[in-house]
Formats: sequence, structure tokens, C-alpha cells
Amino acid sequence: MHGLPPLWIHVADDEILLDDSTRLAARATTAGVDLTFTIWDGLWHVFHAFLKWTPEARWRLRRSADGSRRGCRQGIMRTSDVRTESDVRQWEGRLNREWPQRAQVADWIVAQIANQKRRSPRVIELACGAGYLAEFLVRQSTDVRYCGFDLSAHLLDFARRRLAPDRNAEIYFRQADLVGSDWTDLLLRMGWTGQVDAVISLQALHDLGGPEQQTAVLAQAREQLRPGGVLAYGDLLLDGDNPHPRRFTAAQHQQMLRAAGFFKSHMLQPANSARPLPEYSAAILRYGEFGCFGCYR
Ligand SMILES: C[S@@+](CC[C@H](N)C(=O)[O-])C[C@H]1O[C@@H](n2cnc3c(N)ncnc32)[C@H](O)[C@@H]1O
Repeated sequence: MHGLPPLWIHVADDEILLDDSTRLAARATTAGVDLTFTIWDGLWHVFHAFLKWTPEARWRLRRSADGSRRGCRQGIMRTSDVRTESDVRQWEGRLNREWPQRAQVADWIVAQIANQKRRSPRVIELACGAGYLAEFLVRQSTDVRYCGFDLSAHLLDFARRRLAPDRNAEIYFRQADLVGSDWTDLLLRMGWTGQVDAVISLQALHDLGGPEQQTAVLAQAREQLRPGGVLAYGDLLLDGDNPHPRRFTAAQHQQMLRAAGFFKSHMLQPANSARPLPEYSAAILRYGEFGCFGCYR
């Protein structure tokens, strides 16, 4: 299999060829082929043919066409498969190639913290992964006090090494399932509860499981903020052009924020502009497939 061009395998989890696809993916990986392997939950053999009925099929075919046109756009391996340092680099590299707007969203999030003009701000990141956003933050604000949470011990190890040279900042990375109370217990022990200046997150909240879980995590996040503290996050949106099963529309994000107790919308302002966008209930800043949301406690 050596020398193959980038491969893109997508297969449904409820089909007879799943094992074959998995074996092919394993052999391709061993042979060093640049591989994107996606298993689609709850779908069946050749689901792509059911264009009329499944949004996943329409979305997948459109992405396949985009991929072919652009020399095979890369896909993402699952975080549970990310173990070694090279896996982490490959995983994050692919996120950054697939969504180059991540850098703009990260800039925007960091700008929301800078706008607060607090000395040594306390910042929590939800699902920090390998420390991509934390690196932006530390570059901007060297005296930040930061605590990032994530499920993956391997990503956190990488993040610790990545941020290690930034000795001025007070930086913690902690393994925790956000859909639970370990992380809030830990913040309580650290004396941070109700004292946090900003809660941030990038491209992660849609991974928490569903609207109930996301709302619960947002409500817990709100409890961590000091009065006037800010929640600022960017996540991939569900919309007509992009009907991904696990994402939410901008309106659903707004609804979850309200249900979590965030009523006061943040003045949304592009990262490099002094001019804020008008404040209105459905305020949302878009960068490509991302929507950015900001609220005050
Ligand atoms: C697409 S990655 C984004 C990572 C990072 N925010 C970034 O932008 O590079 C989603 C992250 O969510 C984390 N994650 C998913 N479910 C989680 C949960 N229940 N608790 C904590 N982290 C979770 C994953 O481990 C993964 O690091």
C-alpha cells in the first residue's frame, strides 16, 4: 500500500463492510498512507445514496466533492486514538488545516479576555485539547492564571510540554470529564469558584454529548465566573450548508446560554477592530463554519 495518495474512507457503523473498512484503514496507517477514516453513527451501507432523506449524505457528498477539488481535504482522527506525540501533532495539524479559521477564533477569544483589562486574569478553558488556545492566550497575556480541562491524558501531556517554557504564567492542565462535577470540585479546592475572569472554549462544546450536557456545563461554567466575568467560546455551527448531526445552530446556542443563566449578551467585537457589533439577543460573530458567543455573568 506504500505510495498511495491520501485516502478518504467513510463507512457507516451499521453495515457489513465496517470490519473490512477498519482493516483497510489499519493497513493504510501501517503503510504510512495519509488517511482520513470516519465511522458514521447510526447509518447504513451506502447511506450516501439516500441523498433525499439523509442530511449526512448530502453533507458528506458535498465534502467529498470539495475534498477532491482541493486535493483531498484532510479529516480528523478520533481523540481516543491520539496517543503519541506524533499522533497529537497530526491530529491538531489536521484540525488547523481543515479549519484555518481556528486561529481567528482563538484571536477573538483572547481579545475578549484582554478587553476585560484585569491584571493576572483567572481563566478556565473547557476541553482544552493539546493547548492550542492556551498558547495564544499565554502569548498575549504573560501573567495569566490558567486552568485547562480535558478528557484526554495524552493531549494534556502534550499541552503541559507545549506551555512549559512560559514560566511567568501560572498554568494548570487537569484531566476531567466536564459532564460531571470533578472539575468544579477541583476549582472549589483551588479557591477559584466565583472568582474566574473568563471561561473559554474552542471547537469543543459540541463534543459534550448533546444540548442537555452542554447546557449543564455552561451553567456550571457560569458559577465559576465572578460577577462581570465573561464566557467566550467559538464552536462549529450547524446550518443549512453544513448539516452535521452533532452540531447546533446559532439559535440553539443562544437557547442553551439562556437556559444556563446567561442573559446578558456580550458586545461582540471582531478581534482586530475597535468597533463592536450591535448587541442583540441573537448576537453572533461568524468565522467560516464557526460561531463565536460571548456573555457576561
Ligand atoms: C475538537 S477537540 C478541540 C480541542 C481544543 N479545544 C482545540 O481547539 O484544539 C475537542 C476536545 O474535547 C475534549 N472532550 C470531549 N468530551 C469531553 C468531556 N466530556 N470532558 C472533557 N473534555 C472533552 C476532547 O478530548 C478534545 O480534546
